[in-house]
Amino acid sequence: MLKIGMLTSGGDCQALNAAMRGVVKGLSENVEELEIYGFENGYRGLIYGNYRLLTSRDFSGILTRGGTILGSSRQPFKLMRVPDENGLDKVEAMKQTYYKLQLDCLVILGGNGTQKTANLLREEGLNIIHLPKTIDNDIYGTDITFGFQSAVDIATNAIDCIHTTAASHNRVFIVEVMGHKVGWLTLYAGVAGGADIILLPEIPYDINKVVEAIQKRSHAGKGFTILAVAEGAISKEDAALEKKDYKAKVAEHRYPSVSYEVAAQIEEACGTEVRVAVPGHTQRGGSPCPYDRVLCTRLGSAAAKAIIDGEFGVMIAMINNKTKRVPLGDVAGKLKMVDPNSQMIKEIKRTGISFGD
Ligand code: F6P
Repeated sequence: MLKIGMLTSGGDCQALNAAMRGVVKGLSENVEELEIYGFENGYRGLIYGNYRLLTSRDFSGILTRGGTILGSSRQPFKLMRVPDENGLDKVEAMKQTYYKLQLDCLVILGGNGTQKTANLLREEGLNIIHLPKTIDNDIYGTDITFGFQSAVDIATNAIDCIHTTAASHNRVFIVEVMGHKVGWLTLYAGVAGGADIILLPEIPYDINKVVEAIQKRSHAGKGFTILAVAEGAISKEDAALEKKDYKAKVAEHRYPSVSYEVAAQIEEACGTEVRVAVPGHTQRGGSPCPYDRVLCTRLGSAAAKAIIDGEFGVMIAMINNKTKRVPLGDVAGKLKMVDPNSQMIKEIKRTGISFGD
């Protein structure tokens, strides 16, 4: 009898169900007896012993379903060693649940924070398999994370829709794209959506350069401009500040996000109206795109194989279109960021897209 636990943690994405389905199908087709414990709402379910005993049938028909059938929650890594309001030691509680159920392994689907806790549990002696989920694509050690491509599709569609109305009204538009501290989603959606200016956290912008790029377009007879701005975009000036000074500045200013600050600065410099569109959590919603369905089926199947082989303590990564078992200890806590000097950025700059630098 093989007993596995499974949980989805952190911000959700479109392809979590597809990935869990891949794991369960890969196991149930190849293992005589399988018991699956699904922990509810991420690590919370593991801490407080909230789980459901599932069968492979529960994972049928969910390939196209967004969200997660297990539910998710954010349980910050930095608080994992801090007892809860009733003094409960969360790490010990998770270990107890694991041992009480006599699990052979725990399959954990999540992003960076989730991965750090997964690595902590590995260090504590549990058998862990991690699957790299996030629309942000910022997990170190894998070329791509699931959810990313689906989110690129949605963010691109948002820019496409803005394009037509921006052209009709000869307006400057900002589309703010998710991605937390990295710019992958904005970069891909911005290029795919034909944005004229792309602002990323990894390439701090100079607002004068942004204004210049807009004026250059209007002098060339182009009435509208579209900016794809990452939610984590930062000006050169702010990037030069100490972290605490930057935080204090953000806490003080009146803008809901960086896009509104950039919009106000453009309005002042160009004397033109600027509109901001924020697709927000729609970027994490709906059905996974075909690319993610294939990716998750492969990652899930590769996770099943690792479990069957008894190799734990790894993330199942996709590298050069091949699945790979990457030791969690080598990657946990590291962030994969856009390299401003990469070939991709150089190629995109050559086409005239401005990064405001
Ligand atoms: O990590 C995924 C993500 O959607 C980020 O792009 C974004 O910054 C964050 O989660 C939003 O978090 P929440 O859902 O808690 O508002």
